[in-house]
Amino acid sequence: MTETAELMTDTTTKVAPPAATVVEALLTRRSVRAFLPTPVSRSEVECLLALAAHSASNSNSQPWHVHVLTGEPKRRLTGALWQALDADGRVAEREYPYQPAPDDWEEPFRTRRRVFGEGLYRETLGIAPHDAEGRLAHHRRNYDFFGAPVGLILTVSRTPLAGALVDAGLFLQALMLAARHAGLDTCPQASFIDFYPVLRRHLKIPDDQIIVCGLALGYADPEHRLSRHRTVREPVSTFTTFYSEEPC
Ligand SMILES: Cc1cc2nc3c(=O)[nH]c(=O)nc-3n(C[C@H](O)[C@H](O)[C@H](O)COP(=O)(O)O)c2cc1C
Repeated sequence: MTETAELMTDTTTKVAPPAATVVEALLTRRSVRAFLPTPVSRSEVECLLALAAHSASNSNSQPWHVHVLTGEPKRRLTGALWQALDADGRVAEREYPYQPAPDDWEEPFRTRRRVFGEGLYRETLGIAPHDAEGRLAHHRRNYDFFGAPVGLILTVSRTPLAGALVDAGLFLQALMLAARHAGLDTCPQASFIDFYPVLRRHLKIPDDQIIVCGLALGYADPEHRLSRHRTVREPVSTFTTFYSEEPC
């Protein structure tokens, strides 16, 4: 088996070592939801952000802004978010349409979403489908950045929104791959936008910026059962149309 194939089929619980190549970074990046308290230095975070800033963007507009939270400021934000969550303070409507309501998802995304949820909640965490309390307890950990020492909040300029959101996606992926090269792991977190007023207040986010998502950053905890969780991908043939029989 080639090294690439081994990485693609790896289902062991061990944490992946630093990625030496782009292929390794792509294949070992996954959403990590359990971190060690091991700190990450400011210079390391700055280095990752400088690498991510090499991403392409619409007319080189570089519409992103990153809020980096560690230590006490991170704890204060988590406290405020938990308080809002416990008071049922999730916003009824997000700032922009991020995703459909749970019952409104269409196929094939509905099935993929269900499979993902079952894999995470039932198989990995042992939480039964109707155990609302158990699900909430896990969901709550989003707002602690799953215990990661660094929490990032990514924002982009409000106009032009569609282009800026595409650029934000590229920036995010570059950041996650750069983190893998440094032996770090990440989890992108849209759950933060459910409490955008709290974030806006705490981080003094100006009105001309939109909150894209959060990102947990740190060293994965190899012993945690969440580190066993893996997701699968559809084969290339399901999402690609080739218009020629000639070799690529
Ligand atoms: C924009 C974005 C937002 C996400 N938000 C969350 C989130 O709030 N909480 C969470 O646990 N995972 C979140 N995820 C992680 C996805 O569930 C994950 O990427 C997907 O299931 C594929 O798994 P993988 O990242 O391990 O390959 C998010 C991913 C993306 C790209």
